[in-house]
Amino acid sequence: MVINGSPNAGGNTDFLIDRFVTFLDNVIRFDLREMNISPCRGCEKCSLTGNCIIRDDMYQIYEEIEACKYFLFFSPVFFGGVTSTLKSAIDRCQPFWARKNILGKKIDNNGRKALIVLIGGTSFAKGYECAALSVRWLLNVIEVPEVKSLFYMNIENNKDFSKYNLENDIDSVMDFFSEESEK
Ligand SMILES: Cc1cc2nc3c(=O)[nH]c(=O)nc-3n(C[C@H](O)[C@H](O)[C@H](O)COP(=O)(O)O)c2cc1C
Repeated sequence: MVINGSPNAGGNTDFLIDRFVTFLDNVIRFDLREMNISPCRGCEKCSLTGNCIIRDDMYQIYEEIEACKYFLFFSPVFFGGVTSTLKSAIDRCQPFWARKNILGKKIDNNGRKALIVLIGGTSFAKGYECAALSVRWLLNVIEVPEVKSLFYMNIENNKDFSKYNLENDIDSVMDFFSEESEK
């Protein structure tokens, strides 16, 4: 499952995702900017039922979070965090938190792995770490124990990716996903 948190169609994040997905099979890709996903209202109704009362496109994602084994999150860094587009989807995963911590219904974490890819215009590392933490928090809730992160810094346009060895990175990601899970 590929999650694209960039609000910018045809931008740097899209460019990078296109490079990665050509090497993947059976991809389910969610370009969040194309979807109707409201922010969490904090009503906590999900603590009672395990489900969100907002009936929007997030329901497509809920289904795949349970069904998929491998997750790839891509986002630009915006003000030291993930984009509000991605953050809305993350916050809407509160039903999984409620199921796990209140209702006692955990997803089986067997072999689940994730890659977090963050793209930013600066080399201010804390911004990338902070953005990654938000996604890691989600991954803990949705039972994805093995996580790898890649940070692409100083990316103002897609030519800036030439500073990186994308072939090597894609190889290491393929190895990460194909290695036997540690759990
Ligand atoms: C609103 C906004 C906030 C940004 N904040 C940061 C930031 O905190 N740190 C950073 O390194 N880059 C920041 N940037 C730069 C973008 O992360 C960078 O240009 C990225 O390559 C954009 O990816 P995109 O083309 O997919 O939108 C920001 C850009 C915008 C538009």
